[in-house]
Order: sequence, then C-alpha cells, then structure tokens
Amino acid sequence: MDFFQYQNQRLFAEQCDVTELARQHGTPLYVYSRATIERHWHAFDRAAGKHPHLVCYAVKANSNLGVLSVLAKLGSGFDIVSGGELARVLEAGGDPAKVVFSGVGKTREEIGEALDANILCFNVESEAELARIDEVAGARGKQAPISIRINPDVDAKTHPYISTGLKANKFGVARDHAVRIYQLAASYPNLDVVGMDCHIGSQLTDSTPFVDALDRLLALIDELAEQGIHIRHLDVGGGLGVNYREETPPHPDQYVEALMTRMAQRPDLTLIFEPGRAIMANAGILLTEVEFLKEGEEKNFAIVDAAMNDLLRPALYSAWQRIIEVDQSLQRTHRIYDVVGPVCETGDFLGKDRELGIQAGDLLAVRSAGAYGFVMASNYNSRPRAAEILVDGERAFLVREREKRQDLWKGEHKVS
Ligand code: LLP
Repeated sequence: MDFFQYQNQRLFAEQCDVTELARQHGTPLYVYSRATIERHWHAFDRAAGKHPHLVCYAVKANSNLGVLSVLAKLGSGFDIVSGGELARVLEAGGDPAKVVFSGVGKTREEIGEALDANILCFNVESEAELARIDEVAGARGKQAPISIRINPDVDAKTHPYISTGLKANKFGVARDHAVRIYQLAASYPNLDVVGMDCHIGSQLTDSTPFVDALDRLLALIDELAEQGIHIRHLDVGGGLGVNYREETPPHPDQYVEALMTRMAQRPDLTLIFEPGRAIMANAGILLTEVEFLKEGEEKNFAIVDAAMNDLLRPALYSAWQRIIEVDQSLQRTHRIYDVVGPVCETGDFLGKDRELGIQAGDLLAVRSAGAYGFVMASNYNSRPRAAEILVDGERAFLVREREKRQDLWKGEHKVS
C-alpha cells in the first residue's frame, strides 16, 4: 500500500497536492512519500519479529540523501555496491556497523574505505576478491568480516525469471565450490568468516524460489559447521517484486513468514534482508507535463517533458509502469497514446498504447518510479536531471535541486 491517492479527483502524495508541487518545482519531478517508505521498511522489520535480523536497504534502488536519511532514522542497515554508496550512507547518517558491501568488482580503495568505516560485512563474490580483501586488511592491521555469496542455482525451469542465481552469470560462487572457498577464506589471517549470502534475482513475484534458495544455503551452513566453520548470519539478498501492473507478489509479511518457516529453528543465525524495489518502487512517482499531442499515421503520441534519460526502465527493459492523469476532474477526450519523451531515439518512451484523457499542458504521473528511477537517470541529449521531492504529510522537502544548465558541463574544459 502507498500514500498516493486522489482527493476530489486530484492526485495527492500524502497530504500534498502534486499539481501544486509541479507548479512550484517544475517538471519532470520525482516525488517520494516518506510514510510509504517507512511503511514498507517496517513491514520487513516487523515480520521478522524477535528473530535476530537486520533490514539492509539496497541503496542502488534510490540513493537520494533524503531517502537514506529517512531510513537511517528508522535504524535501517544498508546494502551498498560502491564507495560512492558508502559515502552517501555515511553522509545521510547511516550506521556503518549495519552496512553490507556487495558487488563483483570492489577496488582496493573501496575496500580500504569500508574497512576504515568498520562496516558489518563484505559480501565476497570470488576467490580473487578474498585475496584482495585479506591484503588490504593486513596492511591496516585489521580483520575484515566476510560473507561469501553463494549461487544457489535455483531451478530455472520453474522460475525462468530468476536471472542472478543461476550458474551462468557473473555473480557469486558456485554451490559446488563453496566448501573449498570457505576453507580458503578461513585460512587467510586477516579475514573473519562471519556470514553467507545470496541474491537470486529481482522483481520475483513468488516466495518459492526464495525458500528453495534458503534451504540450499541452510544445508551448506550445516556442512560448514562440520568442518569447524561457523556462520553467524545469513543474508538472503533482495528481489521481492512489486505490483507494477497486475503482478501479485507476496506482501513483505508473507515473504518473511515463508522464510521464517525455516529460520525459526535457527535462533543462532541472524537473518539479513536486502530489499530495494519492495521498499522504494511504489513510494515514488515521476511527474511530467504534456508538451504536445501529435497524431501520427498509425498512432497518437503524447509528447511529454520526461524522457528515457529521466526514467530508463521502459526503454531499457520494456518495463511497464502505470501512467495516470494527475487531475481527473478535467473533462478531456480519451484516446490511446504512446507516451514519449523529447529524446532523439525511437526507444524513448514511457508507455505505449495508454488510454488517457489529456491535452497539452496537463500533468501525468508515472507510478512505481521510486526504485531504479532517478538513480538510472543520465544527461543524455544534454538534459539536466530532474528535481526530487520528499513529502512528509503536508510538508514537501526539496531533496535534490533540478540541475542547472551550467551543471551540464561541470568539470569539462574547453581546449585552446
Ligand atoms: N542485493 C543485491 C546483491 C542486488 O544485486 C540487488 C539488486 C538487490 C539486493 C536489490 O534487489 P531488489 O530488492 O531491488 O530487487 N535496474 C533493475 C533492477 C536491478 C537490480 C539489481 N540488483 C530494474 O530497474 O528493474
């Protein structure tokens, strides 16, 4: 559930009239709802109950400082994938002792920064990375806490949408090599083996593959215990899907409860979650204004002022995101439109074949844009990136200013 609702046929974000926000701050404009973010985070946290656990929000989904500061105040942990994300978490007031560091290509510099910040754990993805972390930790006279990302190879036939938990991808280490790699990790003087992790994919709409993966990891944890390697936390990654169109993913409660059927017998094992999309996607919208309506030979186009550089998911993944009129009280003729941006690419669309009642100057809202929206924005076609607003009840905070013209060439130099 989210807090974007119509009041007298006008779209509101919590108690803020989004038409007013657009008027004040211009478009394209990202608008996030604090109450929605908090509600989603608490859903994970509450469902885990008294079992030792930590919700590590996946920063990549939306790394705005305003968003991170809201989560930091809840006591959230964070899943990061770069030194840049670590810096954002620290700047936003996040607790480094609740940070896990994922990703296949951590540089020496990033590892050093994370060690200096005393993060909770490195989620290691390869043997070469183990050696590198040991070396960097040794040079600092430190012990690096590590977890190894296991590729559980969950059955792709029954769950073909799972992309990152299969053998044929760059993430994690194969289940078959796991014991040997854990033994190797335990042999390094500057590594402290504390955890095990996985991440089997994103936008999953069924709990079964998560539970299958968990079962495989629990069996591996038992096998390691027999070898004298004791795992203290199990990080199940992120990946819980959301409703963009007609998907019916489990609610975070149901997802966590499904995992708890296995974890209840393991009170010694701390459970870590890394949700990104499930917390942020439906906590944000992208507001855009219709510039022109254009009748093509076969299609009608609504040309809007947001484009693929603002919201890449439709162009990149053919992702479907709901597009709605902001003011439904306006009496407009309904037609079927392709909603497209001004960027010079055929692939620049936000939605195709959408029935909308609009005219030039009207506002549209792209729903479910809070995750993998602004973070994937670019300056393509020399378009300044959008502003971002975080709404809290009746108050609206500008959490990122719209880029200015001169920001476009910041750091660039002419040659003589
Ligand atoms: N943990 C790890 C190690 C991950 O790689 C990811 C996402 C997450 C957690 C968070 O997953 P989530 O709960 O958000 O599904 N840009 C794509 C999504 C890429 C996800 C990459 N990894 C999109 O717009 O759909």
